[in-house]
Amino acid sequence: MYLTEEQQDMLNGKYGKGTAYAMKIQAAIGESFGAERMVPITRAHVALSNQEADLWFAEKLLSEGARCRVAPTVNPGFCLSYFKSRQMVSEEDASLMQRTHNAYKALGAVLTYNCTPYVATNIPNFGEITAYSESSATPYVNSVWGARSNREGANSALCAAITGYVPEYGLLLDENRKGNILVEVKADMKSDFQYHLLGYMGRKIGNGIPVFTGLPKHIGPEALTNLGAQLNTSGAYGMYHIAGFTPEAPDVETAFGGKDPERIVEITNEDLDAVLEEISLEGSREIDFAMFGCPHFTLEQAKYIAGRVEGKKLKKEMWILTSYHVKELADRMGITEVLEQAGAVIVPDTCPDQPCWSHLKGKIGVTESPKCAYYPKRRGMDFVIRDLDTCIEAALTGEVK
Ligand code: F3S
Repeated sequence: MYLTEEQQDMLNGKYGKGTAYAMKIQAAIGESFGAERMVPITRAHVALSNQEADLWFAEKLLSEGARCRVAPTVNPGFCLSYFKSRQMVSEEDASLMQRTHNAYKALGAVLTYNCTPYVATNIPNFGEITAYSESSATPYVNSVWGARSNREGANSALCAAITGYVPEYGLLLDENRKGNILVEVKADMKSDFQYHLLGYMGRKIGNGIPVFTGLPKHIGPEALTNLGAQLNTSGAYGMYHIAGFTPEAPDVETAFGGKDPERIVEITNEDLDAVLEEISLEGSREIDFAMFGCPHFTLEQAKYIAGRVEGKKLKKEMWILTSYHVKELADRMGITEVLEQAGAVIVPDTCPDQPCWSHLKGKIGVTESPKCAYYPKRRGMDFVIRDLDTCIEAALTGEVK
């Protein structure tokens, strides 16, 4: 792979050992994917996980002098002030979060602790070359904004933020951004929840870049977030097109680059029902808690829940995970107060896959997000998955109807 003089200097250690280490990793990635050169990035997002390996890597780069040239936004861990003050995390877990915070702060990251930066704090323009890790982020920036990012891991995105470059391969190149699978949606896409399930259809859709047809004319950011999150979690899709809607797909023909689709797939209501049955615990049961905000909820979603629970009392715990800025707006607008009066908690900076949920171990939750149901399984939580209205009702009555 060709390196400019500056990139070669980075590799040779002129900018310090940490930067050399980051460049070495990126050069190896570039060579393994057949990249011919490195190209500059303007944005990055690091899906930090607040787990030992992630921290080890960040601290190693830091101790060897690395600093971010392009300040990346970062994923959630857990809100240290909230969970520590309520003794909901051990000393050891709190220390891991604190060290993660310290390391990323010193590296020069933007400490957003939010997994939907592409709708608020880190929005690329059309054609920008970026390095986004996080399953919902990569498809969103590629598909909805028409920016360019490969499916970076947390580590490779951090290396890109440090060097300011990425190897040019995959979705950075025009020829790899065309669709190859036509997905005709015949299902009734009546709420954002159906987009979670549509995203879970990877097994039927198959490998490649899907081009969706048959979707409503206006699709909101929440539905698009859900679609990308589930496509990339269940099927490793970095990009999709929606004909007549996403910027690189003004029509079906352009989305396929003038070629015929390699495969045509039809998605029906029955397909969505079948996938829901497969991934959810059986319904009609008592639940212990409700959890929303995986990916982090927007202000509109928090406001919607507040409207549904206003003046009522929840029978079960309800957790709404969001960004610090949505939480701040919710506080200012009285949404937090309404939620808290009903017994719900809206908390920033936090992900369901974190040690702060140990009190929910062995319990059954309800959520509208298959991703929320998937990751915390290893922490002993299990979920019934239903649409948001059914979930809210379950938290009010204590059972899924
Ligand atoms: Fe975000 Fe964590 Fe879910 S990073 S998408 S809240 S698993």
